[in-house]
Amino acid sequence: MSILVTGGAGYIGSHTVVELLQVGRDVIIVDNFSNSKPKVLDAIRQITGKNFKFYEIDYLDTEKLDKVFKENDIDAVINFAGFKAVGESTKKPLDYYTNNVAGALSLLNVMNKNNVKTFVFSSTATVYGNSTEIPYTEDLKTGDTTNPYATTKYFIEEILKDVYKADNSWNIAILRYFNPIGAHESGLIGEEPQGIPNNLMPYVARVAKGILKELSVFGNDYNTPDGTGVRDYIHVVDLAIGHIKALEKLEKEKHGVFIYNLGTGKGYSVLDMVKTFEEVSGKKVPYKIEPRRPGDIDMFYSDPTKAKEELGWEATHDFKQMCKDSWNYIDKNY
Ligand code: UFG
Repeated sequence: MSILVTGGAGYIGSHTVVELLQVGRDVIIVDNFSNSKPKVLDAIRQITGKNFKFYEIDYLDTEKLDKVFKENDIDAVINFAGFKAVGESTKKPLDYYTNNVAGALSLLNVMNKNNVKTFVFSSTATVYGNSTEIPYTEDLKTGDTTNPYATTKYFIEEILKDVYKADNSWNIAILRYFNPIGAHESGLIGEEPQGIPNNLMPYVARVAKGILKELSVFGNDYNTPDGTGVRDYIHVVDLAIGHIKALEKLEKEKHGVFIYNLGTGKGYSVLDMVKTFEEVSGKKVPYKIEPRRPGDIDMFYSDPTKAKEELGWEATHDFKQMCKDSWNYIDKNY
């Protein structure tokens, strides 16, 4: 019995495949390398000393996807195949709705046809939109989203709930990620954004390495302790382990829709990151204060209690370790 991982060569996907292989699961990766590189597959083999099946397929291609299900004995699917850049999604909404929503539908239809109904879905804290209640708990209202990327995730969550309502044999976990950073401790896999990074950590790491000149801090007049934006950063390996725990939960429960926040429950500011990164890297991270970035909110972090109680999952890497591992990856590979 195998776990199919779509987008398994990507940042969170590759870390999750490592954890799956390490707990002895058989893995099949489907990826089209739209935002990842083939060398990641070798890195996964190197870290784990284990092999897996790989198909270079766009998950929108239902015919090819169907063949993967026919050729293998698949009992669950974890879906990481999706576009994730907030800014880009406002410029290319059709690409985002097609790849994320139509892609998920393609996958769900093929799963349904092949009677595979156990599904772990990558969602995001941004489905809470402009919620003002902090920390975010899973029962907060969702859907007041502020960009097409977040809306695609919200739509897919709603689709999954309807699918379960119509057919109670589905077994679905929706995982709402907070801000994933860090890298595997080997430094062999990590985050590889295309072009100039939009997210804070990959930007800071490249400034420390001397690849980029200085960081722009988007706003220092927010209602936060030091005026800069506060987020709940989570180590990508903790996040990956969250998927294993969610899968185990589904295997135990047999059917249902289970929703969990995956975060640490702690918030750190932009300047906290600059300071901690300088400390762990021994490098300077020059920065300048710029105007607020449109669409940003001041502060949010998770309440991770539900995942702890129901999955027995808790983040174990602290903020310093996250910065250390991000630095290790950049320092080794650039
Ligand atoms: N920031 C800067 N300078 C930069 C980049 C970011 O000051 O160059 C600030 C932002 O203003 C924000 C914080 O750093 O206050 C974090 O920004 P990120 O872009 O790293 O992350 P976001 O919280 O905006 O969004 C990220 C992902 C989304 C995901 C969300 C989940 O981009 O895909 O986390 O919480 F949905």
